[in-house]
Amino acid sequence: MADDRAGFPLGRPARLAVFASGRGSNLAALMASFPPTRPGAAPAKDATVVLVVSDRRDAGALALARDAGVGAVHVAFGRDREGFEAAAQRELERHRVDLIALAGFMRVLSPAFAALWRGRLLNVHPSLLPAFPGLHAVRQALAAGVDRSGCTVHFVDAGVDTGPVIEQRGVPVLPGDDETTLQARIQAVEHEIYPAAVRAVLRGDAAPAAPRGGPG
Ligand code: GAR
Repeated sequence: MADDRAGFPLGRPARLAVFASGRGSNLAALMASFPPTRPGAAPAKDATVVLVVSDRRDAGALALARDAGVGAVHVAFGRDREGFEAAAQRELERHRVDLIALAGFMRVLSPAFAALWRGRLLNVHPSLLPAFPGLHAVRQALAAGVDRSGCTVHFVDAGVDTGPVIEQRGVPVLPGDDETTLQARIQAVEHEIYPAAVRAVLRGDAAPAAPRGGPG
């Protein structure tokens, strides 16, 4: 189960959970790379998506998960973050999850939850962090007038979009871009780098630095 030492590689296929609030295009990319196993099918190679958690009952991501035969769970967030996290944690344990990928999950998890899953909790963000953290990153990039933006996959720590970077890739901002066109260009790249970053973590090639003062 989750502990402070992520312990990758595991020596067996990893069991992945994806947290998503939206349509789930990153979930689809992750499921294409780490296919859910169906009864009678060949076992997973390096990893398999076993659980999708959403704070939104109507999230497209939940429908995608159900269609793929993956555990799909709506957990209300409301004003009660601790309640969400406790219920999510029960599902994570029930599904024996090794690593969580946040994919368009539009809630901020607590420092305690990030610490519990340290090294096993990843996020994808639509900017070249540390530029444009938080909400509406694509809108922020357009408002700032930059000629390059992109996306970042990083470990989640106690801050918002502040954790150690695993993969980052830039895209040009083109004349005439609006939020829709730039977001589409960024998301096409997210769909490539997110599975690659998950693989790097599973191989043990990427890990957050040891906490300061910790045993290493
Ligand atoms: C993605 O572009 C992701 O980077 C962004 O939400 C989108 C979800 O799309 N996440 C954030 O902005 C988190 N701060 P999807 O539901 O199609 O994967």
